[in-house]
Amino acid sequence: MKEKWDNRLAFILAAIGSAIGLGNFWRFPYIAYRYGGGAFLIPYLVALFTAGIPLLILEFTLGHKTEHGAPLAFGSYRKNWKWLGWFSIAVAFGIVTYYTVIMSWSFIYFFHSFSLSWGSIPELFFNKMVLEITDSPFNLGGINYIILIFLIVTWIAIYYSIYHGVKTVGKVVYVTVILPWLILLVLIIRGITLPGALEGLSYYLTPNFAALKDPTVWINAYAQIFFTLSVGLGIMIAYSSYLPRKADIVNNAFIIGFANCFTSFLAGIAVFSSLGFLAYQTGKPVSDVVASGPGLVFVAYPTIINMLPFANKIFGALFFVMLLTLGIDSAFSLVEAASKAALEQWKKIPRRALNLLISIIAIIVGLIFSSRGGLYWLDIIDHYISTYGLVVVGFLEAIFIGYLINTKSFQDYMNKQSEIMAGKWWLYSIKIVVPVVLLVAIVYNTINELRTPYEGYPKLALNFGFAFILLLLIISILLSRKQRRL
Ligand code: TRP
Repeated sequence: MKEKWDNRLAFILAAIGSAIGLGNFWRFPYIAYRYGGGAFLIPYLVALFTAGIPLLILEFTLGHKTEHGAPLAFGSYRKNWKWLGWFSIAVAFGIVTYYTVIMSWSFIYFFHSFSLSWGSIPELFFNKMVLEITDSPFNLGGINYIILIFLIVTWIAIYYSIYHGVKTVGKVVYVTVILPWLILLVLIIRGITLPGALEGLSYYLTPNFAALKDPTVWINAYAQIFFTLSVGLGIMIAYSSYLPRKADIVNNAFIIGFANCFTSFLAGIAVFSSLGFLAYQTGKPVSDVVASGPGLVFVAYPTIINMLPFANKIFGALFFVMLLTLGIDSAFSLVEAASKAALEQWKKIPRRALNLLISIIAIIVGLIFSSRGGLYWLDIIDHYISTYGLVVVGFLEAIFIGYLINTKSFQDYMNKQSEIMAGKWWLYSIKIVVPVVLLVAIVYNTINELRTPYEGYPKLALNFGFAFILLLLIISILLSRKQRRL
């Protein structure tokens, strides 16, 4: 029996559930801060329209038309392109190994909320008490067992949420999608009424046209769009393969794209107003009031929570529960996509055993991010995986659909399914804009990185980051080879 979504809303909510996650509340704010606030928003919006939504439409169509997971979706057009599907899933898997570590931090913060134990200097608390951070990536400092324990708890939660397959996914997401918007609203109201908030907001919202010349900002904007929309990860292909035969594709892509990016924008308002407040308190400029890395929001949100007029503790706890629920539906969307891909090839494996295997391997890889030097590795791997993994997959998808198959009949199918037509705009995006822009961004970025090492990390550490991507690529090619023989 084929699995299907109960109705259209269930699909939209599940797709939004996959899209909205830590990418909006954790990654977007720190990337926007790192690349200059107002310098980032324009490239981000350009990336949404020129690549995010067109590729979302592409992946929905591909999944719906072929009714397959990513490897076979590509493979059903061209046998020797299955590896691209596997690569997208391998990239998603790479992401989930550290994504769940951020969820583990959120768990820890949930417990600290009850006593507001981060005190008045949340940055110090994060580095010294939670991470116990070392001084360099080559000083791992042993495993931080608290982080590891909650990493395991996180995986148990993920495993149980997908226990019953896609039908439950459709239900769980009602809670995980609606609640966050309410909580965010409260944070924003308190955030923007803090002294100094305006300065933070103006740093976030004032466009900086000079920065548009910097290719690093652009590649990071594209990478963030892919990450946040779950595009280039094989996930949206798998989800749309469960859609009923009659389903609107273009419309759904717009709804999901807008809902998701609007959420990020709002999270940015909360975070930047708290940065403005910190700047006001410390007398430093907004641009260097805290370190702009993956720990940023674990400083920014507690700052606002401290300042709530009442019920801080309860609200803090509620907020971190929200981060967890948001993370869970994103994380299980990956496990769904990966297990769908694998089950289509190795039909005899029991699904639950497979999910268990995926979880265990992810915990093992996650050990490195759970070490005391793990934050550095998280930053490095996240950087390589998003700029090389995600962006390269997006580029190849556009080439594949735009040039290697019958694009016209693909587009006709898409439009037959949709109320709004995706016409010339979509075609030009896929054939010209996406390939050209991404190629230029990749080349510039590579040249740039050879000159100035990412965030000043030691060269050797960065080479490891790059090697990680190559490893994922090799694994994908091996997986697609193996299939042919079975
Ligand atoms: N879109 C999700 C977010 O914004 C992130 C995400 C996409 C993800 N695909 C994933 C996380 C796969 C883990 C695994 O948070």
